[in-house]
Amino acid sequence: MNFEQIFNASPKVQASAPGRVNLLGEHTDYNDGFVLPTAISQQTTVSMVPSPNDRHHFYSVELEEQVDIRLTDPTPKGFSSYVYGCLKVLAQAGYTVPPLNIFVTSSVPIGSGLSSSAALEVATLRSLRSLLDLDLDDVRIAQLGQQAEIQYAGVACGIMDQMASSLADLQHMLFLDTRSLDRQLLPFPTNAEMIVMDSGVPRTLATSGYNQRRAECEEAAQQLGVKALRDITDLQAIVHLSDPLRQRSRHVITENDRVLRARSANLSAIEFGELMNASHASLRDDYEVSVPALDSLVNLLQSTPNVFGARLTGAGFGGACVALVAAGKGDAIAHEVLARYQATGHTGQIFVPS
Ligand code: GLA
Repeated sequence: MNFEQIFNASPKVQASAPGRVNLLGEHTDYNDGFVLPTAISQQTTVSMVPSPNDRHHFYSVELEEQVDIRLTDPTPKGFSSYVYGCLKVLAQAGYTVPPLNIFVTSSVPIGSGLSSSAALEVATLRSLRSLLDLDLDDVRIAQLGQQAEIQYAGVACGIMDQMASSLADLQHMLFLDTRSLDRQLLPFPTNAEMIVMDSGVPRTLATSGYNQRRAECEEAAQQLGVKALRDITDLQAIVHLSDPLRQRSRHVITENDRVLRARSANLSAIEFGELMNASHASLRDDYEVSVPALDSLVNLLQSTPNVFGARLTGAGFGGACVALVAAGKGDAIAHEVLARYQATGHTGQIFVPS
């Protein structure tokens, strides 16, 4: 189905935004910490035209689903909650949003930890920026997207995904300080490339314990008398916390340190890979957001020659893994590991190289 077939009109504007994969810095963004994502080639495209009536009409090609709605109606479910959320946060920010026909198509996998929701929010807001000639820069777009997700999709997420979708590119890693929003585009480690593979275990952010982890971190920060866990760098400071708060804090402190190390110039792919391996162990043991399927896929990757390091990526509880491997070997390694992973009864698939 194309735009004309659904809406009997041509789109007036169109904008796209990519999914992202996070290389290091997991569950640090809502602790005011550091992250290191990059964009992936899979992207979401949103086209729109003013609606001929007093309702908004949203259509998703992949889901073959149409929603007809007014902004005074309750929040819808599914993909339309993100589109609706973007329109609502713009209206809350004082912009006039006329009824619209909005057409969504996406190659970002849903529910794999590659930020299909942020890509949808950023593409929707970019499209709205162009249609309504809004004075919004890329950081503001990310912030509005995050608000849409928090208020209308019910996930108390940080700012990483929307910033990555709005500001990262395929050629760099985006170093981001999520407190100040200071950022830097950094080169990838030399002689290395990235693999992204799905574990085949789906994950639902809102029901997955994400909000619980965030609450635990806030509780730990409060007990430690700091604004956010980012303010603690010394592991001695957390010895008096009881578990699980001590474990959660230890993950955040060591993960922030790993991102800062990864940022140092001239870090080799081998050293970068070691940081990824340590990140996975910390997410598994201290943050407790891995699952057996992710652990086994990560183990397979880590034990394959020419793999520098591997870890789960995104919120965890299922979804995808990222690995850093020797340049030119990504495709062969991904296929070899996928075959071994599937031999253990899992599905799984390769997202990068695509
Ligand atoms: C999800 C959230 C992000 C971030 C990651 C975990 O992707 O949307 O804000 O917290 O989980 O690092």
